[in-house]
Parts: sequence; structure tokens; C-alpha cells
Amino acid sequence: MPTVTYVHPDGTKHEVEVPTGKRVMQAAIGAGIDGIVAECGGQAMCATCHVYIESPWADKFPSISEEEDEMLDDTVSPRTEASRLSCQLVVSDDVDGLIVRLPEEQV
Ligand code: FES
Repeated sequence: MPTVTYVHPDGTKHEVEVPTGKRVMQAAIGAGIDGIVAECGGQAMCATCHVYIESPWADKFPSISEEEDEMLDDTVSPRTEASRLSCQLVVSDDVDGLIVRLPEEQV
């Protein structure tokens, strides 16, 4: 099962085993990880599931859709090259070891 590590702004890490097909957002919520709010429940309509994806995993996900791109312009913490909506990221074996950094603020 792929492993995803969530890193809080203070450096605290949470490693979670995530079944393939599950979204990075769902796995965080399920594991009780603070820092992802996901107000819209994964509909790409709230931008409160904003995360920063570490290289080299960023390239292993499909590129940002137009809908996600628009929402990323509305994140509370600054958007960077590494920004994604975690509800749009489906975990696969290709991203085993994924490191996701959580922003300072979501809302
Ligand atoms: S959960 Fe709302 S945009 Fe991802």
C-alpha cells in the first residue's frame, strides 16, 4: 500500500498508508490529520484542501485542470509551483513515498 507523508508547517510529520484509488484529501481526513479542511467534500469548489507536493511526485499526477487552476488562485496561503488541491490527487503505486506539505492556513 502506498505511503503518504503529511508535513505540518512546524515540521511535524504523519505517515499514512493509503489504499490506491483514495484521494490525498480523503486519506488525511480519515487519519485525523489537521491542516486539510475540505469544506466542499472534494468537489474542487472550496480550495481548503490546498497542499504543496514535493518533487518528484508532482509530475506523477495528472496536470492541473482548468477548474482546479481557478480554485488554486483562491487559496488562503500563497499559491506556488507545488500547489495542488488534495481532493484532486488520486493515490496510486506510482506515488508511493509521496510527501505533502500542509499550508499555514486553509481558511
Ligand atoms: S475539498 Fe474542496 S476543493 Fe478540495
